[in-house]
Amino acid sequence: MKKLIAIVLLSVLPALGMAAGGPGVPLLAADNDLSDQESLQRGAKYFVNYCMGCHSAQYVRYEKVAEAAGLTEQEVKDNLMFTENKKIGSQMISAINPDDAARWFGTAVPDLTLTARVRHSGDWIYTYLKSFYLDDSKPSGVNNLVFPDVGMPHVLVELQGLQKANFKVETDADGNEHKVFEGFELVKAGSMTPEEYDGMTRDLTNFMVWAAEPMKLERQRLGMWVMGFLVILFILAYMLKKEYWKDIH
Ligand code: HEC
Repeated sequence: MKKLIAIVLLSVLPALGMAAGGPGVPLLAADNDLSDQESLQRGAKYFVNYCMGCHSAQYVRYEKVAEAAGLTEQEVKDNLMFTENKKIGSQMISAINPDDAARWFGTAVPDLTLTARVRHSGDWIYTYLKSFYLDDSKPSGVNNLVFPDVGMPHVLVELQGLQKANFKVETDADGNEHKVFEGFELVKAGSMTPEEYDGMTRDLTNFMVWAAEPMKLERQRLGMWVMGFLVILFILAYMLKKEYWKDIH
């Protein structure tokens, strides 16, 4: 029986694998929940208000947002669409001219539809949004712990406030010195408390994880059925094998 449990456990363990962090920085767990429609609603609202000034999510259509977040067409038009000509089937395209943007920020502004997949998890996005810190050597005055020398300014600074990063210097066995991140320290409060800011960035992450894979919830639900089916099949096959072999041993 122990062997049986071990085999079943081993077969599900890879699903629990963790994504690696940035340059030596562990990622924070976003704990986002795709079935939380209110979180998706807030995430979509933050996205159109704070991110779409620069970024598009060009593979996402507003009607799909309505479906996933449990909103009516009219609610989406009233709250999430700022264009003159509101067509519910249109894509989430920023009004910014990509060439201008590239000139202003010194780098192309990436489309964010698939970022959660490209970065392997929502945890990366969540950590990224919480990891801007003061750095006078950068043109925008900030740097980012998981995206060093990032071209994006800290657009949520009014809400989060400003934090500085504390590093200590450690010498390894070969005598090389490294900067090791110790923690952030809020030096100027924003309009949100740290808990509120965590909630906001979690909602944004939730929205972006959904955008990257709108079928994920459905896939996971199906996946659980398939796993359950396989486990039951395995137990039956095992019992059958015991039954067949019992007279031989
Ligand atoms: C003022 C313009 C601007 C706004 C507003 C903005 N960004 Fe960005 N963002 C950028 C630029 C420019 C980059 C590219 C940075 C680079 O490559 O160095 C970027 C990069 C990113 C990346 C990294 C993508 C990757 O995988 O490389 C993420 C994630 C991101 N932005 C999320 C957001 C979110 C979420 C918001 C809204 C809260 C937002 N951005 C608002 C300009 C902006």
